[in-house]
Amino acid sequence: LIAELINQQKPLSEWPKHLFAVNDNIQQTGLLLASAITPGQGLTTTFTRGITQTLAEIDLSGLRGRGGAGFKTALKWRFCSEEPETERYVVCNADEGEPGTFKDRVLLNSYAEQVFEGMTIAAAIIGAKQGFLYLRGEYLFLYEKLLALLEQRRQAGLLGQNILGQGITFDIEICLGAGAYICGEESALIESLEGKMGIPRNRPPYPVSSGYLGKPTIVNNVETYLAAAAIAVNGGAWFANLGTEKSKGTKILSISGDCKRPGIYEVPFGITVQAVLDLCGADDVFGVQIGGPSGMFISNQELHRKLAFEDLATGGSFIIFDNSRELLAIVKNFTHFFAHESCGFCTPCRVGTSLLQKQLDKIVDGHGSAGDVVALEELCRLIKQYSHCGLGQTAANPILTTLERYPEIYQAQLKQISYEPGFDLDAALA
Ligand code: NAI
Ligand code: SF4
Repeated sequence: LIAELINQQKPLSEWPKHLFAVNDNIQQTGLLLASAITPGQGLTTTFTRGITQTLAEIDLSGLRGRGGAGFKTALKWRFCSEEPETERYVVCNADEGEPGTFKDRVLLNSYAEQVFEGMTIAAAIIGAKQGFLYLRGEYLFLYEKLLALLEQRRQAGLLGQNILGQGITFDIEICLGAGAYICGEESALIESLEGKMGIPRNRPPYPVSSGYLGKPTIVNNVETYLAAAAIAVNGGAWFANLGTEKSKGTKILSISGDCKRPGIYEVPFGITVQAVLDLCGADDVFGVQIGGPSGMFISNQELHRKLAFEDLATGGSFIIFDNSRELLAIVKNFTHFFAHESCGFCTPCRVGTSLLQKQLDKIVDGHGSAGDVVALEELCRLIKQYSHCGLGQTAANPILTTLERYPEIYQAQLKQISYEPGFDLDAALA
């Protein structure tokens, strides 16, 4: 419907109202969410404390990127601020496309003030005059609300010229994505911001040295800016007090699937998967997909494992499957997703993901042999190793992580073939 409305160039005022309805009637508690700051509070504290000292507090907090990869935020901002080129940019990646992830939608619906505050603090630190919020196209219902909030911030002197009389100029523009998963990859996102097709660039150079229009740019997730604003107010030690040695603070999870209380949950890093399952009321668990399809499927024998960058890293997606689910149907769904979302730029991913879905379908449909499973695994490793960007490099994860844990489920699907007496299949395959 949205695509049709865009094609017809209908003004937003004529769009059906239900497209703008927001229903985030879900769990919302935790350190960051409970410490929601008032407009300007993060900036006032930043200016009082001093910009260098604020960066030191973010460093002390141990904050790492909340999109999933976990690069140290203070380091990224410092690298950018040290670039000789003075035209710099702040980008908020709100192209939340990982299946099972919806926390950024909630954060932008309920805590956008704090996200914009975090972006403005980042701009003051790196010396940027322009910021962009790259909003997932499907989150269009948030667009007008966010525009109104930006305008309010301009009126309050929190955006625009001479912010809070400190001689700093910074403004934020909202750019809408158009439904491509790949545009959540930071360099594809930057290409898209520049009006080009969302094809990932070679990295390095990383955006901190060559990003939007080839200028130094920081790209961070919505949650990272939200956390940075809260840290600017409450100090680094406040945040670092929670979590583990290598994963400080809290993580906001999007919990979905077979549980009694799905929603977003803010948990301290280092929490076990079992503790999260207890929180949301999940029993009879077969497995959990951590970090979405691009992440890892863990079995019910691994529920003692910890959510932390040093064990199970996640951008926030936490999908629970109970024993009524068919594993191969899930894997098939995820594999088709990646084949559909491949941007087509490089051969290992464009051709590889398509071959992968065909090969998997053959096995799932009961037409595969043991040799087909071997070929499937080889194909997975090839795509992982030779793809140009993270999409291709992770597209085979649903197959690889389940094949490793549940080979018997794949084997059970194989075509029954009768061999000559004495034929040694294992020896033949070896
Ligand atoms: P990455 O590790 O290559 O980079 C992470 C961040 O650190 C980037 O901003 C990058 O520019 C920066 N960086 C890394 N090395 C740097 C250096 N030497 N100097 C300066 N900056 C540097 O990870 P990538 O490919 O950007 O992201 C992959 C992650 O994204 C995965 O862990 C996955 O979990 C997550 N992901 C999240 C999704 C979501 O919806 N939130 C969707 C799909 C994937
Ligand atoms: Fe595009 Fe896939 Fe290659 Fe990434 S790995 S550049 S998504 S074709």
